[in-house]
Amino acid sequence: MALDLTGKTALITGASSGIGVEFAKAFARRGARLVLVARRKDRLDAVAAAIRAESGVDVAVVVQDLSTPNSAAELEAKLRSTRTQVDVLINNAGFGTNARFVDEDRYRVRDEISLNVAALVDLTAAFLPGMIARDFGVVVNVASTASFQPVPGMAVYAATKAFVRSFTEAVWGEIESPNVRVFAVNPGATQSEFFEVAGGKPSIGMAPTVDVITATMRQIDARGSKPSVVVGGRNSFMSWMSARLPAKAVIRTAGKMFLPPKH
Ligand SMILES: NC(=O)c1ccc[n+]([C@@H]2O[C@H](COP(=O)([O-])OP(=O)(O)OC[C@H]3O[C@@H](n4cnc5c(N)ncnc54)[C@H](OP(=O)(O)O)[C@@H]3O)[C@@H](O)[C@H]2O)c1
Repeated sequence: MALDLTGKTALITGASSGIGVEFAKAFARRGARLVLVARRKDRLDAVAAAIRAESGVDVAVVVQDLSTPNSAAELEAKLRSTRTQVDVLINNAGFGTNARFVDEDRYRVRDEISLNVAALVDLTAAFLPGMIARDFGVVVNVASTASFQPVPGMAVYAATKAFVRSFTEAVWGEIESPNVRVFAVNPGATQSEFFEVAGGKPSIGMAPTVDVITATMRQIDARGSKPSVVVGGRNSFMSWMSARLPAKAVIRTAGKMFLPPKH
């Protein structure tokens, strides 16, 4: 049976494009109020207006750069000032960088770790205790199939997503109430602005964003959510294989897909 989300508040980070926009539409269709977070106000406002017109739910927009050290605390303070209680947290904001590690901009890489890892942990720490106290809540942390093996050409990104999956699965193991769901979702390559931002394009096909939402909603509605869900049958098989094949072969294969040519 579908989990009743009517009137609950869903906070979605990275809601100005790609997978985050699709999450916002999906939670609105389920009757949830939305708090949409990202840096680009114009994009957030456009998403919010379209959703209000379509679903009639309350949508608040919070402009916040989540890669800065106190960003999660600042976001929490903004929500406290409007007495907003978060029932669903979708830690979706994230970006990748596609280059050989030695060619990476070290400050951009630091922002990547701050956003993909630190902000996600901080926001989970900010909102999960309230969910446990109220015995209701959902935390979805967006990891990636990159979490299943090191990825030459996206070394830092894959490591951040391995952290996200490991962290989330461990927290899943700490939750004792069936009414509080915490799990990681692992998309493979998905149509969004991700690869434009990362500065590369893999030699593989892209799935539609809706696939990520379908897999996530299925877990939210399941009686007992899994610690982690992989989006798509082919990605599930590849992730399963990555844990079983020799590391050398797995890493070289990932490198073939993501390593930029030498210049
Ligand atoms: N697309 C894929 O192939 C793929 C595969 C696996 C996992 N993922 C993961 O899926 C999630 C969503 O990515 P996407 O594919 O939808 O890419 P996207 O279209 O580039 O969306 C990324 C979102 O994150 C936000 N964001 C980036 N930097 C931010 C910052 N410093 N502070 C706050 N928000 C920030 C962006 O908004 P602003 O720029 O407006 O801030 C945007 O809304 C990410 O965690 C990504 O790692 C994507």
